[in-house]
Amino acid sequence: MKKPIIIDTDPGHDDAFAILAAIASADELDLLAITTVAGNVPLDKTTYNALRLRELVAALEIPIYRGCARPMVNELVTAEYVHGETGLDGPHLPEPTKGIEDGHAVDYLVDTLMAAADRAVTVCLIGPMTNMGMALVKEPAVADKIAEFVIMGGSFHAGGNVTPTAEFNVYVDPHAVHVVFTSGVPMTILPLDVTHQAQATKPRVAAFRSLGDPVGDVVSAMLDFVEKFDVSRYGFEGFPLHDPTVIAYLLEPEIFQGRPAHVSVVVEAGAGHGMTIADWWDQGGSGHNATVMMSLDADRYYELLTERLARF
Ligand code: RIB
Ligand code: CA
Repeated sequence: MKKPIIIDTDPGHDDAFAILAAIASADELDLLAITTVAGNVPLDKTTYNALRLRELVAALEIPIYRGCARPMVNELVTAEYVHGETGLDGPHLPEPTKGIEDGHAVDYLVDTLMAAADRAVTVCLIGPMTNMGMALVKEPAVADKIAEFVIMGGSFHAGGNVTPTAEFNVYVDPHAVHVVFTSGVPMTILPLDVTHQAQATKPRVAAFRSLGDPVGDVVSAMLDFVEKFDVSRYGFEGFPLHDPTVIAYLLEPEIFQGRPAHVSVVVEAGAGHGMTIADWWDQGGSGHNATVMMSLDADRYYELLTERLARF
């Protein structure tokens, strides 16, 4: 039984790996659509990048919907300093031969989810959560239709990557994160705590490069470009592939180890803006609303990604 999923994304180098890995796993994941959001770069570029990635692997049957151009309340903050001006600097990617679908991504989310059975669709959130937040505001009943949110975002013991307390996806639109976190939908969260343990070291990049044309050349060129910021700031051995952890969790959850928590987010401006808080012991009496992954088998993670990308 294939798992119906929607990927909401701001490609972005690591988003690209997640999208390609999901498309390569068509025997297990039924990728209903890709919805784009402003984040790593502005919406026109994240949408263009999604179209180019789809073209790269000739997956033109997968619809792409253009979403929100800015956060619900705050001004847009982007990350060209990590991903470059295009949002996918490094590789050569093909020009799209097919465009986006008619209609806004928020309306696609509402219409598709409301037409689904209860708890039928898994929504993968790997960028700022503006589209899903707006969909929940427009039609709160969509919450009953979602099997699970699988989220790359937040940080609990690892510090932030935008401020000392905030991870990028949450920092950009904390109000949307609040709507998502309080929706009542079961959540699995892959925060920086686990993604920082998944660095694209040289041997791992070499394994991707050995896949050759078309995907191996592209994804290894992506990593050659995007590692600069994280290596210089954190002294990492390579770029941490944040977003594909969401797809790897869906394919082989045993790669990850986590624990239940009640998670919440700080939306107020100031030093805590975008901080995610885990009440591990339910001290607030609200019960747990998420499983938060805190470690992984990084070697198996990269083996899985390499195996799947080799399918193209
Ligand atoms: O903090 C990492 C997250 O922010 C990833 O999703 C990356 O693509 C950026 O969107
Ligand atoms: Ca992303």
